[in-house]
Amino acid sequence: MTGTSELPLVILTHSLPEEWLHSLEGHCRIVRGPWDATYLDPSLEAYLDQAEGIFCMLTIKVDRNLLERAPSLRVVSNMAVGYDNIDVPECTRRGIPVGFTPGVLTDATADLAMALLLTMARRLPEASQDARGGRWKTWSPAGWLGADLNGATLGIVGMGKIGQAVTQRARGFGLKVIYSDTSRLASEMEQRLNVTWKPFEELLETSDFISIHVPLTSQTRGLFGSHQLRLMKPTAILINTSRGPVVQTDALLKALQENWISGAALDVTDPEPLPANHPLYTLPNCLIVPHIGSATRETRRRMAELACQNLLAGLENKPLPHCVNPEVYQVKQ
Ligand code: DGY
Repeated sequence: MTGTSELPLVILTHSLPEEWLHSLEGHCRIVRGPWDATYLDPSLEAYLDQAEGIFCMLTIKVDRNLLERAPSLRVVSNMAVGYDNIDVPECTRRGIPVGFTPGVLTDATADLAMALLLTMARRLPEASQDARGGRWKTWSPAGWLGADLNGATLGIVGMGKIGQAVTQRARGFGLKVIYSDTSRLASEMEQRLNVTWKPFEELLETSDFISIHVPLTSQTRGLFGSHQLRLMKPTAILINTSRGPVVQTDALLKALQENWISGAALDVTDPEPLPANHPLYTLPNCLIVPHIGSATRETRRRMAELACQNLLAGLENKPLPHCVNPEVYQVKQ
């Protein structure tokens, strides 16, 4: 029988509900960080040199510096579908597989994108504040007028799993969906989803709503700057549930202040978190929520489940069920 001290050491960068971690019992020793952490907690740094696994969240940078201090590392398991917090090429070079959690957060994130779209279309934050603030004097024939969804055009930027799930929801509201992506869907898939591919600039010019669903890469960083925001309709609403740096914050601030576009709803920001005194919070046509796309009870439990599966596979030197860098197995041979 293996004594506890012989079990591999895993750094869990955050605290998580115990019931999410049952599958790890008896397979590893865990040292854990606080419930909320933007950086690797200093109390965990001392364990880096013995750690064989890291179970991390998207706020933790797993970069060359960290990897250099963790020579025994055999697996990095990120509890997220996005992995821009991890230096994947460096992990691959070191023979370390990186796990992620695709699929299980598609619906929750698509639901939030639609919720933000509806909220902004119907100006719910302003209307609610007016009601609470005593500015609701009577039924107002021309008050709080919002945007119609039926017959309007939704432009999806990034037609992966989440973009497709938003498309399916959007159809129920009568939205016509166009999309832009570096690779086109197969034509039968386009037909099934009833979507049309458009060049990015045409999508910007013709959409009433734009919802962003691209990963953060060197190509998508800053994708929405002044030029792109100026191309959008003055009535258009921008929704971002992907990664903050895809939209240039200063350009967006100006676009909203000067009414280049009508509104924006952000689940993600740059920087993240956006400081409480940031001017974007003062704008009535901007809604910001704290990166809650996957924040439903079942979704987060399932993300943890997948992250545990990846971690255990890595510790057992087996292929990760959800691996970002499967080429690592070729490198190892
Ligand atoms: C992810 O998993 O990448 C999401 O942003 C978390 O909500």
